[in-house]
Amino acid sequence: MNVFISGNIASDALQALEENNISFTQWKEERQISAEELIEACKGQDALISVGPNKINAAFLNACKHLKVIALHSVGFDQVDVAEAKKLDIKIGNTPGVLSAATADTAFLLMLAVSRKAFYLHKKIINGEWKNYEPTPELGIEVTGKTLGVFGMGKIGIELAKKCAAAYGMKVIYHNRSRNEAAEQELNATYVSFEELLAQSDVLSVHTALTSETKGKFTIDVFKQMKPNAIFINTARGGIHNEDDLIQALRDKLIWGAGLDVTNPEPMKHHNPLLSMENVAVLPHIGSATEETRAAMSRLIGENIIAGLKGEDLPYPVY
Ligand code: DGY
Repeated sequence: MNVFISGNIASDALQALEENNISFTQWKEERQISAEELIEACKGQDALISVGPNKINAAFLNACKHLKVIALHSVGFDQVDVAEAKKLDIKIGNTPGVLSAATADTAFLLMLAVSRKAFYLHKKIINGEWKNYEPTPELGIEVTGKTLGVFGMGKIGIELAKKCAAAYGMKVIYHNRSRNEAAEQELNATYVSFEELLAQSDVLSVHTALTSETKGKFTIDVFKQMKPNAIFINTARGGIHNEDDLIQALRDKLIWGAGLDVTNPEPMKHHNPLLSMENVAVLPHIGSATEETRAAMSRLIGENIIAGLKGEDLPYPVY
């Protein structure tokens, strides 16, 4: 059995493949593999470990019908045409659960970084602009006792809400398609409509999947409904907010700040106006980027590939 891996991953999955006498080849170049190269690389393979934003769309799936299983190096699967994979009977697995804490940490980090203008002020030191101590300019705001609004209360949202409640006594409200009663009980979280979420959140953090319903959801009209002191955090997918509208909302002071681990497109261009704004912190999609979490993701990937190649149900299927 042969597996193609479209990037570098933690060694756990590789070890598991070796132990099961499964051979693999890996994309070793620094640049992302192109769609054509991916199809070519998957010829003669039984499975794919898909690392990064490879589009597992109908064109790819039909060109690679021979694949038995595709293991994603992500929990998100918006890059996959699930209906087509189902039709072609190609199993698709992802990495749920193991990256919730690390991704929630990233949202928490961004919340604090934005509230204290940390990235902007750090850049000032680098640029030799650390002047005399002055009590008033460039002040941050505090989050203690404020309201956290979670858009998409799943595993990651729950982790963030726990941290914010424990560290800062933040009140938690959320909006989902359907109510999350476990979160309500565990966190004393209150379910609100989307409009109420916008109107009441001091920190609004996005943790939903990118779907046709959430794509481009945060537009200027939505930012207008938020509090002028609100911090917008997105660690989910860049496609959920409209970037031009976010820039406008920040310039017009419709909201106070923004923290992004995801952008649209990725990578973000280095001259993007968001990068020079005081109340903005941007990270390069590092939500799950810790040694512990990447090792755990790799273990799940190994399990998905081995089960799929044995013709068994995947332990972590997306469908
Ligand atoms: C995920 O697992 O979905 C992360 O965002 C990495 O893509």
